[in-house]
Amino acid sequence: MNSEYPPLTKVPHHVAIIMDGNGRWAAARGLPRLAGHKSGTENLRRIIRASVEFGVKVLTIYAFSTENWGRPEDEVKGLMRILEDVIDSELDELHREGVRILHIGQLEAMSPRLRQKVQQAIEITRENQRLILCVAWNYGGRDEIVCAIRKMIEDGVRPEMVSDQLVSSYLFTAGIPDPDLIIRTSGEMRISNFLIWQSAYSEWYVTRTLWPDFGREEYYQALVDYSHRDRRFGRLSECQGES
Ligand code: FPP
Repeated sequence: MNSEYPPLTKVPHHVAIIMDGNGRWAAARGLPRLAGHKSGTENLRRIIRASVEFGVKVLTIYAFSTENWGRPEDEVKGLMRILEDVIDSELDELHREGVRILHIGQLEAMSPRLRQKVQQAIEITRENQRLILCVAWNYGGRDEIVCAIRKMIEDGVRPEMVSDQLVSSYLFTAGIPDPDLIIRTSGEMRISNFLIWQSAYSEWYVTRTLWPDFGREEYYQALVDYSHRDRRFGRLSECQGES
């Protein structure tokens, strides 16, 4: 895909996004919160396209957390409806564009119809390789770790077998590399139970921009910012090591 932006010197393989601020975006316009989520969904389409354009290979989006069940019933129902509508209206195009859809979180709590749609989307797109779109829905980092521990115990894993790699292989994200860059919109400085194991060495980009307004231009700027980061993973940078 042609891009009007100069190529990046270093592109994060995996970008994860906490899409925050839909409610405030709506409130600022005197609209109901669901209007903010709808506008946020429109923006998601732009950011998925831009991810392909900029060469990102995995995009994980935090769309519904295990804590979001505590929101008013009409908001929860509205979000479930949005997911269903998006699958109905976007799946064909995402598939044509080579996007593979994955889900992290617990599907069990969804209605059987929605669960089936999500499973179909995963199945239909399973061979696609251009971009992995990993949707965190009914996802919580602690819940993920609790599930992993339960499965390890069920599998009879002995204490001496437990390692970083083994734990990673029991998480919902098994097989997906850890996020290189996590973007959080709306300015909050917290992790909110998102990828708490996987983000050990992720770079962060936090912006005050509300999610519906976080467009392609600022996404590109976040990637430029990332390309200047010196990732040391607890070690020294290459030039420090030489001195
Ligand atoms: C956080 O903003 C946003 C959410 C809890 C929902 C995000 C969901 C979407 C953008 C829907 C699209 C997703 C898919 C996969 C179809 P907030 O409501 O907490 O905003 P606030 O902090 O301003 O109240």
